[in-house]
Amino acid sequence: MGDLSRIGVAIDTQLLRRFDHFIAQKGYQNRSEAFRDLIRDRLVGSAVVAPNAFVVGTVTLIYDHHTRLLPEKLTDLQHEHHHVIISTLHAHLDHESCLEVVVLRGKSKEVQKLADRLISTKGVQHGRLVMSSPETAADHHH
Ligand code: NI
Repeated sequence: MGDLSRIGVAIDTQLLRRFDHFIAQKGYQNRSEAFRDLIRDRLVGSAVVAPNAFVVGTVTLIYDHHTRLLPEKLTDLQHEHHHVIISTLHAHLDHESCLEVVVLRGKSKEVQKLADRLISTKGVQHGRLVMSSPETAADHHH
């Protein structure tokens, strides 16, 4: 390990409680080690594909449609980037929660950027991008 930096992170109490439960189940001795592993995992996951590689992907979003202007913001973003979006599926899970799955196709950097913007939109409770490169995947066929 290189030099150590200490950071302070503000986190929702409920979320932290769930995180503590999660890391206890995984056998972590402390939060720092668990945070480091999560960060490494995310960094590795986003670095596999070259920026200009052609990829397909899905972004899954969970959000409360009562959050002010959130559905509009997500729709605006998708219209702005219609050239990388193949399709969007929307499911009304219950009175509040929506599930949206956006299917993307294009250069890795464009897909990643749009996914990041959708996921980081204020009010989105959970978001995840799953990306696959048909070219890379083809190399693994036997
Ligand atoms: Ni809905």
